[in-house]
Amino acid sequence: MALALLKFSSTPDLINFKKSIIDSLIDEQKHFKLYEEKLNSLGYEFGDFPINDYFWKQAISIKKPEHFSSMMSLTFEAANLDFSYYFYERFKEIGDLESAKILKTVFEDEISHVKSGVHFMNNWRRDLSLWDYYRENLIFPLSPARSIGISYQARFRKAVGLDSNFISNLESFDDGFKITKRR
Ligand SMILES: [Fe+2]
Repeated sequence: MALALLKFSSTPDLINFKKSIIDSLIDEQKHFKLYEEKLNSLGYEFGDFPINDYFWKQAISIKKPEHFSSMMSLTFEAANLDFSYYFYERFKEIGDLESAKILKTVFEDEISHVKSGVHFMNNWRRDLSLWDYYRENLIFPLSPARSIGISYQARFRKAVGLDSNFISNLESFDDGFKITKRR
C-alpha cells in the first residue's frame, strides 16, 4: 500500500483513491500490531516463523491503480474476508475469545477495504462489466480463484457491493490450479 502511494501520481483524479489507501494502510498496521502482540503474549517474536512472500512477488507487476485494486482489494483482501471470518469462528469455537476478537476486527476492516476497491473499480470501468474489467486488470498468474478463501461466502461479496454478474462468474470460474481449490 505504501508502495502504491509512491508509485501512482497525485493527480486530482487519484486523490480520493490515495486517501483510501492511506485509511487501509492504517488499518493494516493496526492488524499487524494485534497479531504481533498476540504472538508476543505466546512467547514468540515476529520473524520466528517463516512467512510467504507470494504477495510481494506479484506486487512487482503492479503498474496502474486498476492493477492495484484488482490484485489487492478484489483478490487478496477479498480472500481474506473468508479467511478472517473462518478463523474468527474457529477461535470462538475453542473458546479463545481474545484471538476471535482480533479476527473479527480484521474481518470488519477488510469489508471496508474491499468495498472501497469495488467503488474505485466501478468508477474506472467505463462500459465494461466489473467482472470483465477485473479480469482485464488482474495480472497472471493471479486469477479470480485467488479471491476465494476457506469456506467461501457469497454474502460477503454482496456486502462489499459486488454485483450478481460478478458473483456468478466468480462462483463458476475455474483456473485449473490445484492450490486455489480451497473452498
Ligand atoms: Fe485489508
